[in-house]
Amino acid sequence: MRQRVSSLREQFLSELKLTGKGKDVEDLKVKYLGKKGPVQELMLHLREAPAPDRPALGKEINALKEEIAALCEKALSGFSQLERAQQFAEEAIDISLPGRKRYLGRKHPISQMLDEILFIFAGMGFSIQEGPIIDTDYYNFEGLNFPKDHPARDMQDTFYLSSTHLLRTHTSSTELRMMEAYPPPLRIVIPGKCFRNETISSRSHVFFHQVEGMYIDKNVSFADLFATMQEFFNKLFGKSIQTRFRPSYFPFVEPGLEVDISCTSCDAKGCRLCKHTGWLEVVGAGMLHPTVLKNGGIDPQVYSGYAWGFGIERLAMLRYGIKDIRSFTESDLFFLSQF
Ligand code: PHE
Repeated sequence: MRQRVSSLREQFLSELKLTGKGKDVEDLKVKYLGKKGPVQELMLHLREAPAPDRPALGKEINALKEEIAALCEKALSGFSQLERAQQFAEEAIDISLPGRKRYLGRKHPISQMLDEILFIFAGMGFSIQEGPIIDTDYYNFEGLNFPKDHPARDMQDTFYLSSTHLLRTHTSSTELRMMEAYPPPLRIVIPGKCFRNETISSRSHVFFHQVEGMYIDKNVSFADLFATMQEFFNKLFGKSIQTRFRPSYFPFVEPGLEVDISCTSCDAKGCRLCKHTGWLEVVGAGMLHPTVLKNGGIDPQVYSGYAWGFGIERLAMLRYGIKDIRSFTESDLFFLSQF
């Protein structure tokens, strides 16, 4: 009987060595300790042993039973740790993989250009103001010395919203509002969206941006305007730009003029961009008309002032070599991601 106990133990130990996973151990445990297993069978055979030996034998069989249970427990916990480690290894995230490329948004080229323009003028002492996009006929035309039926109104085909209200055709519409709001001296720039009812082409659009400049003080002269324009263009293009002033007509300035700059593409040698003239027309400007100053509540006997206006799209096209003004409003990511 003793012999059988110890050989069963040997047999169990050798089988335990062969287990490779938790499930094997569980099966082994059932096989040895189950109701029909060899340990239970030994118990049944206990009756056949001589009576005085029975208690000691019984103890031995129980000890074997406990040993088998304890060894199985130990093996099981060893396997489960191993299996968990394996599982973790399989589920591990390989952080050495390159990440997916993230596309960052960026500022629209017009906004970038505007930021630069405003930065330059802020550095020259101009403050930044804004006015309404929907404005009245008075602020956009009448008050600026465009009487009703004046042919100059045809220069700017207008989107009227009613008989009195319109989408502003230029940022000059905010000039009178500023004169009404602040006493001189006044040195401001007014950026904003403008609208004109024009045929859309590569060179003109119904929707565009302007920056207006206005300076009103005692003794403001043409010289101030020239110097400001010259300084601005040198700074904007980061190189020496020549400026040229030609007489022109706008009802709210007298005299009125157009500012040309030397061609930024060929440095005034002549190319397709400047139509072989060497010059580019970029700004409308002039000395504020006395009637306009009066409309703004400012005495033209005491004060004088200048104003200018230019399109941001035009400058951005020159700066970046963009051929079609429609590119700015087409939301083409390939185009926009270049800036
Ligand atoms: N508002 C004019 C335009 O849009 C430009 C301009 C502004 C002219 C200020 C003179 C003075 O064409």
